[in-house]
Amino acid sequence: QCDLQGLWRNELGSNMTILAMNAAGTFSGSYHTVVAATNKKILVSPLQGVQQHPSAKRHSTFGFTVQWQFSDSTTAFVGQCFVDHRGKETLETTWLLREEVVSRKDTWKSTRVGTSIFTRSK
Ligand code: BTN
Repeated sequence: QCDLQGLWRNELGSNMTILAMNAAGTFSGSYHTVVAATNKKILVSPLQGVQQHPSAKRHSTFGFTVQWQFSDSTTAFVGQCFVDHRGKETLETTWLLREEVVSRKDTWKSTRVGTSIFTRSK
């Protein structure tokens, strides 16, 4: 079983902190990205998430959103936590980054998608 609480880093070098989860499986934390689609100065941003089956011994799915404090965009991550035979935990995620566009005509270019793997950082 994998505990989402703690400090995590992805392949880009972005860091996130997930705080204690409540009994309902909701959690909050903060995200410090090292890259951005904007030229604004990066700020640490809050995240809010939910985990399925928070108390069960399984590799539960989870999702969280990041409300960027330096851009008008929102990112939603969904994923699952895995533990290898050596006990190394990874969060395997897929994300959508929605940018604010001025008009519906620009919706086609509003959303980026990607995958990201987080490992626990000590
Ligand atoms: C923005 O550029 O408007 C906000 C920052 C977005 C950072 C993205 S979210 C998905 C990807 N993974 C990261 O750690 N950072 C980028």
